[in-house]
Amino acid sequence: MVCLGNICRSPLAEGILRSKLPYEDFVVDSAGTSGYHIGDPPDRRSVEVARKYGLNISHLSGRQFSNRDFDEFDFIYVMDQSNFENVNKLARSKEDLEKVKMILNEIYPNQNHDVPDPYYGGTQGFENVYKMLDEACSIIANKLT
Ligand code: 4NP
Repeated sequence: MVCLGNICRSPLAEGILRSKLPYEDFVVDSAGTSGYHIGDPPDRRSVEVARKYGLNISHLSGRQFSNRDFDEFDFIYVMDQSNFENVNKLARSKEDLEKVKMILNEIYPNQNHDVPDPYYGGTQGFENVYKMLDEACSIIANKLT
C-alpha cells in the first residue's frame, strides 16, 4: 500500500487489508513515495478512524518506498495518480510495472480514481477514505483467498 507520506492513507489501507487476510499467509505493508515522514507514526486522524472501526494502526512507522519492494511484494496498490507515476519511475522491468495498481480500480475498473489525500482536510475526509479503502480491500481479500 503506497501513498505520498505513509502517514494517512496507506497505513489505513495496510491495517484494513491485513485485518481481512489470514495473518500467517500474507505479508501486508505500506510505504510512502516521499521521505517526509520516515519513522513517524500514522496521523492521529488515521489512528482514530481505524480505532473507531476496531483496528489498531498506532504502532506503524513511516518508511519510503524503494525498488526493493518490487522484489518483496506481488501487488503494489497506490492511492493516486501521482503515487502511480512515482512508483512506476522506480520500476526496473515490465514485471515490476505490472505489479502496480490504482487501488480504487478494484471497485471501479479502469477508471483511475484517486483516493483523495485527506491530510489538509478535516476528520470527515478520513472517514471517507476509510470507507473507500474498506470496500477496495474487501475485493482484494476476496480475490486473494
Ligand atoms: P498521505 O498524506 O500521503 O495519505 O500519507 C500526506 C501526508 C503528509 C503529507 C502529504 C500527504 N505531507 O506533505 O507531509
